[in-house]
Amino acid sequence: MAFTDYKTALVTGASGGMGWAIAERLRSKGLTVYGVARNEEKLKELQDLCGVIPLVGDVSDTEALTKMVEGLEIDVLVNNAGVSRPGSILTSNAYDIDEQIDVNLRAGLQLCRLLLPGMMERDRGHIVNITSMAGHYEFGGHIAYHATKAAMHTVSRQLRVDAFGRRVRVTEVSPGRVETDIFAKVEKIDPAEANRKYYEGFEIPQTSDIADAVEYAVGAPQYVNIGMIELLPTLQVPGGLRTGKRVGDDVILTGNK
Ligand SMILES: NC(=O)c1ccc[n+]([C@@H]2O[C@H](COP(=O)([O-])OP(=O)(O)OC[C@H]3O[C@@H](n4cnc5c(N)ncnc54)[C@H](OP(=O)(O)O)[C@@H]3O)[C@@H](O)[C@H]2O)c1
Repeated sequence: MAFTDYKTALVTGASGGMGWAIAERLRSKGLTVYGVARNEEKLKELQDLCGVIPLVGDVSDTEALTKMVEGLEIDVLVNNAGVSRPGSILTSNAYDIDEQIDVNLRAGLQLCRLLLPGMMERDRGHIVNITSMAGHYEFGGHIAYHATKAAMHTVSRQLRVDAFGRRVRVTEVSPGRVETDIFAKVEKIDPAEANRKYYEGFEIPQTSDIADAVEYAVGAPQYVNIGMIELLPTLQVPGGLRTGKRVGDDVILTGNK
């Protein structure tokens, strides 16, 4: 198990959802874990639960991020913090586009820039990027989200090229729907309503399933790089084909299911 080789981890977006579960799991494997997020209260809760060290801040603030990680020797970096906002290019607003680029893409790149050199020097490191099925498939309505997740897919591949020759591994974990608070935030609705709409009655992976995937990749022997894990609900299948026929102003759709 490579866990014996690693001493420290930094997980962004550790105040809830997948980040919380991943930070808790890495902690249970004996690593010193730093958790980054804006919600100080939730980070304190996680610290009381299992000793994850809070780093309170906004990942889109590059200056703050730089100060936050200064002097830290991080073996495992998990770029997990993410925001999703609805909107095709016709309906997106400027703020939502910028926020998704800043949090989902820019922060990940900056953290890699700040922490990869140390990993290279120590000849030991692992970067885990939590992307999304939205980075690989088009299902409409979240253009900036799709774009940033596709970009982090590319970043994950490119990092392996940049780190070539050192024992630094890179894993992309690409989830489908997972039960967290993200949909309540996307739609700006009450978590109970989001729960009814997106989770109740569905067979949906839990944050512990994502932590299992991260544990598998990080715990693999050091000579093994798990490049990508796509983790979807069994009953969630992307794909299909639509072909439209214009009849006046209407579009009649045909295609398979
Ligand atoms: N849930 C899903 O169905 C799903 C599917 C595919 C991919 N994903 C991806 O999985 C990752 C985790 O999502 P989740 O479902 O666990 O979401 P979540 O429950 O909404 O948690 C998001 C986390 O990101 C943090 N975050 C957001 N903006 C931040 C900022 N500016 N600075 C610092 N931290 C920030 C939040 O912390 P604070 O608000 O405290 O800052 C929170 O800890 C995301 O990258 C998401 O895109 C989720």
